[in-house]
Amino acid sequence: MKRILSGVQPSGQIHLGNYLGAIRKHIEMQKSYECYLFIADLHALTTVRDPEKMRKYILDLAKAYIALGLDPKKTVFFQQSALPEHTELCWILDTITHMGLLERAHAWKDALAKKTKEATVGLFNYPVLQAADILLYKPSLVPVGQDQKQHIEMTRDIAIKFNQTYGETFPLPDPLIGEDVAVVPGTDGQKMSKSYGNTIDIFADETSLKKQVMGIKTDSTPLEKPKDPKSCIVFTLYSLLATPKETSSLAAKYKRGGFGYGDAKKLLLQKILDHFGPARKRFTELDKNPKIVQNILLQGNAKAKKIAGKTLEEVKRKTGLILH
Ligand code: TRP
Repeated sequence: MKRILSGVQPSGQIHLGNYLGAIRKHIEMQKSYECYLFIADLHALTTVRDPEKMRKYILDLAKAYIALGLDPKKTVFFQQSALPEHTELCWILDTITHMGLLERAHAWKDALAKKTKEATVGLFNYPVLQAADILLYKPSLVPVGQDQKQHIEMTRDIAIKFNQTYGETFPLPDPLIGEDVAVVPGTDGQKMSKSYGNTIDIFADETSLKKQVMGIKTDSTPLEKPKDPKSCIVFTLYSLLATPKETSSLAAKYKRGGFGYGDAKKLLLQKILDHFGPARKRFTELDKNPKIVQNILLQGNAKAKKIAGKTLEEVKRKTGLILH
């Protein structure tokens, strides 16, 4: 079985875009790959500065994955900061990585241009930590979104440089980017993202969830008039969760007229509650028993450490840091 590895930043409430874009695929993959998945809390530290929030985001992310079906027997699920191997390898890789490589990173250039994030050394060095995350586990594939493609290319560049300097050590990982990366629209029609405040949070309480769904932007076509399903956010979101049959039946209602956006929103809300019903229930149970989640992570950390420790030892030997 091929080994895959991916990391997810704990950065806020879990929304429909996270689920459809990444979580669903990560969980699906445990059937056909040897999976390593970690909570990239050290990366999140470049933007999250509130310790209460940090703790909550880490736990919520873990709860969400477990509630949605991550099986800790199949996927090694762990917390990045619990393994000092990540930062240690990061430093060693820092010593062979040129400033120029990092200066070309889109994420860094964006942060400088838009001034949305503080231009810290940590943010600049972000891709090297990511390279360390990946190379420690020598995976064949790294499932990521399109926006992370450059980071995987940088990981390969860094691995090549290490191999050339110290001898063949790291196999070069390939990115695994799903073809069906449909953009999930947020409630205002832009891409769903925490930073736009347009999310539908799948584990929010029912009242907040309802508020988010009812707040989806629609045009002003009157109730009795036929409507175009394709240009409607409510319809698009519904189709992402519904069967093809349910989707075409909703499309017919739109085209017939006499069916309002309020009706469509009610159907969407019900669909979300049905689809995520069991996961929402598990999430609440885990909320009451955070120990369950913490134990899963502790066990994952121990499993991950076996692999990461071995690679780091190999690296320290090759670089001359181990004396015997
Ligand atoms: N940078 C990734 C993101 O924001 C998260 C991440 C950190 C990651 N380390 C990784 C992804 C290693 C894949 C492999 O999505």
